[in-house]
Amino acid sequence: MSRKKIVAGNWKMNTNLNEAIDLINILKTTTKQFSSIEKIIFPPFTFLNTAAEVLKSETSFFVGAQNCSEHAKGAFTGEISAEMLNSIACKFVLVGHSERRTYFKETNEQLVSKIQHAFKNNLHVIFCFGEVLEERKSEKHFDIVKQQLENVLKNFSEKDLDKIYLAYEPVWAIGTGETATPQQAQEMHAYIRKVIGQIFSTKAAENISILYGGSCNAQNAAELFSCADVDGGLIGGASLKADDFCKIIASF
Ligand code: PGA
Repeated sequence: MSRKKIVAGNWKMNTNLNEAIDLINILKTTTKQFSSIEKIIFPPFTFLNTAAEVLKSETSFFVGAQNCSEHAKGAFTGEISAEMLNSIACKFVLVGHSERRTYFKETNEQLVSKIQHAFKNNLHVIFCFGEVLEERKSEKHFDIVKQQLENVLKNFSEKDLDKIYLAYEPVWAIGTGETATPQQAQEMHAYIRKVIGQIFSTKAAENISILYGGSCNAQNAAELFSCADVDGGLIGGASLKADDFCKIIASF
């Protein structure tokens, strides 16, 4: 079967308003020719509305939020709800990013609740997971990834998977300049598909999109994307440079 090709850019806590507007406008123009590839950008909350406005007539270029609250609404100072995101034409939300798990101590329970709120509000989810260096060194990476998937996804149905992309992001590769080799990425992505097959079905495993994230850049994207089970990338640092992001999109 042929799955979608996807390139997503996680801007993290970078850019100011002018920089964000420039970047969005450049990307809108330069990525036009890649209409068969789904592009998603995840700017900071403050620029989401602008991004959604600029990209509103695009059919293959969407806007997502880097996080959402695990609560529906109410007295949660500083939080942003899935309903708010949906109301500004945001289509996606990242859940489970390692920086949220590590710095903000997000638990599996919270991740499940965030995904439930996202679904209730018509948002699609990119669910992120991956092992830390110690876990890889001690060869626990497959078990860890399996647990991360099972703990969260067992709370959802096979139908729900239509609204989820997976992003395998080995934590040792995020922002470090060290990338998983294409062999390591392929091996893990094939394993992830096997786990999805065990939790749900072979059909679900074949259909789900699995992105690779972790120091993916204009130089290594082509090799990574050529792996049979890698359906695209979740890009951090390199997504802030329009040229690099474009080259990554052109790498398929
Ligand atoms: P990086 O970040 O590409 O800068 O390593 C990836 C991510 O955190 O999604």
